[in-house]
Amino acid sequence: MTRVLEVDPVAPLGAALSEAAEVLRRGGLVAFPTETVYGLGANALSPEAVRAVFEAKGRPAANPIIVHIADRSDVAHLTSRWPDAAERIAQAFWPGPVTLVAPRSALAPDVVTAGGETVALRMPAHPVAAALIGAAGVPIAAPSANRSAGISPTTAAHVLSHLAGRIDLVLDGGACAAGIESTVIDTTTDPPTILRPGPVSAEDLWSEAGVRAVAGSTAPGEPHRSPGAMARHYAPNALTVVTEASEDRVHDETLQGRSVAWLRFAREAEPGPGVLSLTMPDDANAYAAVLYARLHQAEAAGVEVIVISQPPSGSHWTAVLDRLSRASRA
Ligand code: TXA
Ligand code: MG
Repeated sequence: MTRVLEVDPVAPLGAALSEAAEVLRRGGLVAFPTETVYGLGANALSPEAVRAVFEAKGRPAANPIIVHIADRSDVAHLTSRWPDAAERIAQAFWPGPVTLVAPRSALAPDVVTAGGETVALRMPAHPVAAALIGAAGVPIAAPSANRSAGISPTTAAHVLSHLAGRIDLVLDGGACAAGIESTVIDTTTDPPTILRPGPVSAEDLWSEAGVRAVAGSTAPGEPHRSPGAMARHYAPNALTVVTEASEDRVHDETLQGRSVAWLRFAREAEPGPGVLSLTMPDDANAYAAVLYARLHQAEAAGVEVIVISQPPSGSHWTAVLDRLSRASRA
C-alpha cells in the first residue's frame, strides 16, 4: 500500500513531513515534489535503501542517481574535489534546478554512483523537498518518480499511476513549476559539459555564473557520460511523432482508424471530433511546465498515436526539443 499525504507546497510543516522523514530514515521510499519533477527519495547513505529505488523503478543498475542535499556543507562530505566552475554555478543557481557532477568521495555508495568515479549533486529549491531533506537529516538519492524510461511525473497522481503499491509514501505538494528535469552539468571537464539540457540554459550559465559550458553529445551510438541520457527515454507508450506537418499527420492517422492525441499550438486549426486536442503554450517555459502533464493525459486516454506540432527552434527551446526528441525516438 502506498500512502498519500498532502503537504502545503509553500509552508510545509508538521506531521506529514516528520512522518516522511521517519520513513526515509528507516530505509523506505518517499516520492516528493521538487521544482522540476517529482523525485523518488531514499537515504543516499544506505545502499539497501537505494537498491530499493532501482527495484521500484525497474531502473538499470548502470544508471547513477542524483543525490539531493539541503545544506551546502554536504558538498564537502560527498565529493573529493569541487571544481571552481561547480562552485560558481552553485553560488548562482542553488537552491534550484541544476545538478552538478563532480569527483565523488568514499561516502557516496557505489550503488548511487553506479560504480563510477563521480557523484551528481543537487540542492532543490522546492520548500517541500528542502524541508524533507532537512528533517531526514541525511542526503536523499532521488531519480524521477516514474517507472524507468517512462514519462517523468509532475503531479502526485502521475507518481501513483507508475508506482502505486511499489513505494511507501507520496507527499502531494501539487504540480511542479518547471515541469522538466534539472540541467545536468559535468564539472569534471574543462569547460564543463551540459549532459542534459534543462531549465537553466547555457546562456544562463554564462550570464549568471560566468561559466561557459559546452553541450554534450547525445548522438545515438556514441558512448554516454550520462547513462540516463539514453536515446529512448521520457517516452510514452503510444507512437509519438513530432512534425511541422502535424495537421496532415493527424488527418492521416485518423483516416487509418487510429486514435490520436494532438499537442498543438492555439494558432493551428482545430481538429475534427474524435481527436484529443491539447493546446500547448507559445512560451518555452510555459510549454515545458505542462508538457509531461499533457503526455500523461494522452497516455491515460489510451491513444495509439501522439502527434506533436514542431515547436520553434532557438535557444529558449533547447530543453523542450531535447525531451521531444527522446519521447519520439523509436
Ligand atoms: O530534476 C531532476 O533532476 C529530477 C529531480 C527529482 O531532482 N531527478 C531526475 O533524476 O531527473 P533521474 O535519475 O531521472 O535523472 C538523472 C540523470 C540521469 O540521466 C543520470 O544518468 C544522470 O542524471 N546522472 C546521475 N548521476 C550521474 C553521474 N555521476 N554522472 C553523470 N550523470 C549522472
Ligand atoms: Mg528520470
